[in-house]
Amino acid sequence: MSKTMSKHDLGSSVVYQIYIKSFCDSDGDGIGDLPGIVSKLDYLKYLGVDYIWITPFFPSPQRDNGYDVSDYCAIDPAYGTMDDFDALVAEARRRGMGIMLDMVLCHTSSEHEWFQRALAGEERYRRYYILRDGRGSSGPGDPGEPPTNWQCAFGGSAWEWEPRLGKWYLHMHDVSQPDLDWTNPEVREACADVVRFWRDRGVRGFRFDVVNLISKPEVIEDVPGSGSACRALVADGPHVHEYLQELVERAGIDGMITVGEMAATNLENCVRYTNPASHELSMTFSFHHLKVDYKDGKKWELADPDIARLRQIFSDWQEGMQAGEGWNALFWNNHDQPRAISRFGGRGGAGYPDTSWEKVGKMLATCTHFMQGTPYIFQGEELGMTNPGYPSIDDYRDVESKNYYRIMIEGGKSPAEALRVVSERSRDDGRTPMQWSAAAHAGFTTGEPWIGVAPNYERVNAEAEAGVEGSMLEFYRRLVCLRKELDVVAEGAVRFVDAGPAAPKVIAYERVLEDAPAGQPKRLLVLCSFDNEPCAVRLSGAAAEGLGDAGVLLGTYPRRLIDPASGMVALHAFEALVLAW
Ligand code: NOJ
Repeated sequence: MSKTMSKHDLGSSVVYQIYIKSFCDSDGDGIGDLPGIVSKLDYLKYLGVDYIWITPFFPSPQRDNGYDVSDYCAIDPAYGTMDDFDALVAEARRRGMGIMLDMVLCHTSSEHEWFQRALAGEERYRRYYILRDGRGSSGPGDPGEPPTNWQCAFGGSAWEWEPRLGKWYLHMHDVSQPDLDWTNPEVREACADVVRFWRDRGVRGFRFDVVNLISKPEVIEDVPGSGSACRALVADGPHVHEYLQELVERAGIDGMITVGEMAATNLENCVRYTNPASHELSMTFSFHHLKVDYKDGKKWELADPDIARLRQIFSDWQEGMQAGEGWNALFWNNHDQPRAISRFGGRGGAGYPDTSWEKVGKMLATCTHFMQGTPYIFQGEELGMTNPGYPSIDDYRDVESKNYYRIMIEGGKSPAEALRVVSERSRDDGRTPMQWSAAAHAGFTTGEPWIGVAPNYERVNAEAEAGVEGSMLEFYRRLVCLRKELDVVAEGAVRFVDAGPAAPKVIAYERVLEDAPAGQPKRLLVLCSFDNEPCAVRLSGAAAEGLGDAGVLLGTYPRRLIDPASGMVALHAFEALVLAW
């Protein structure tokens, strides 16, 4: 068994996420591709990242943009060839970066050979999926009602009647994504084979899609309420830890960097997934911090972000994972999330208030990049990309957005109201083409992009920001660099700090490493204001100690007021400040 990654390795690494379809198009078909990624490796090296996670590029009918995989061990011609992939791995390695792949093993596409063979009646493959009789069915051929009230993630029942199977099949996501039955040892073996296949091609790590949904409850029954609570019921199921351990062992990936995407999970399970003694995963993505602007927990109802709740979630997860020797993946953005700048910097589909977008972006980045864990940068985040605020529902492509737009209209919302919600909540907000330059289509393609470019590309783009002092891109480069330079960032203990009653929207925490190498700080104090008005932090007790000796490691405003005697630090709107001792 290879050695598990050390805390220092994990804590000094930074991962960059590429949503391949929107990253860089090399052949003018409007879709990003593998050669496009190769052409941008120098840019990623300039940014300083260690690993590049690429979203699925396997053959797929694209009902869920590649998360509906029809062949796990091949490459969709739209994205390139196996030679292109090998070249990417080699070119990344030459620059000291590793490739991480996205393994979608909770479900297949309905066009996958396994499902097709199940449809053709092969008993062996019927046992790959979760098939049930309908409720109230009078016998074979009579569907009856769906077996339970479960709702899938994209709206509507999680069950589909399939006459060729004579059963309902479970799909926790789109109807074209039947869930695999992981109680079947053959399924587990086949999934390990897939991971081993890519490991043997030189991949350095893996992200596992909704992997905490692989072990379904022993009894499949109704959940109270609307049926959407089934996600929480299925999450972290009875055999999930055992299945992950087995997968890691069989695929021979212990010691590689791995991250599990965890739907509706909890701290206790994430500690278990990531404590090195479990030999399961290096780290987990959890999403509680990205639900603080859901009204009463409902994604498709708008509310302002609740910063007190955000602070509580961060402190619970940072301190809780630390106590259990687990490890967090740190992130604000990905291909399933609206852009964080638009979300936390003042709502409005088209982006941010003109004057503050850079401040908001830098503050958000500071907030997560100094935490304990491994930071992920989602393409374009390092430039300050925002939601596009498309003018029409026809501009959106995502299956979830289109379904919920319809559901909202059916529920009585006007088209304008429904569009407003979609513009703030759509997964497409994070899927617009990468903004490389001020050229047509932001330099992403010479053809027609598969989805429209955000209108601010002429000023928010890589070409305009590279090498420019004070730009968002240069700020991110500094954050990446500090994580490698300072052991306190990579390994320090974390402790959340009370910012006092006059700073209700400030998130404050310390990092401490008593045995930091000589010449390096032992202690950091990170202050991030989510307030669009100035405020005054009042530190007390241990947090205020030695404030007079602190130097400024990083800040987003040139002028600041610190009064060590009273423990007061004045912050501007959306200011981030990192003090070091
Ligand atoms: C999570 C992925 O990030 C998302 O894009 C996808 O739709 C679901 N899992 C289902 O695979």
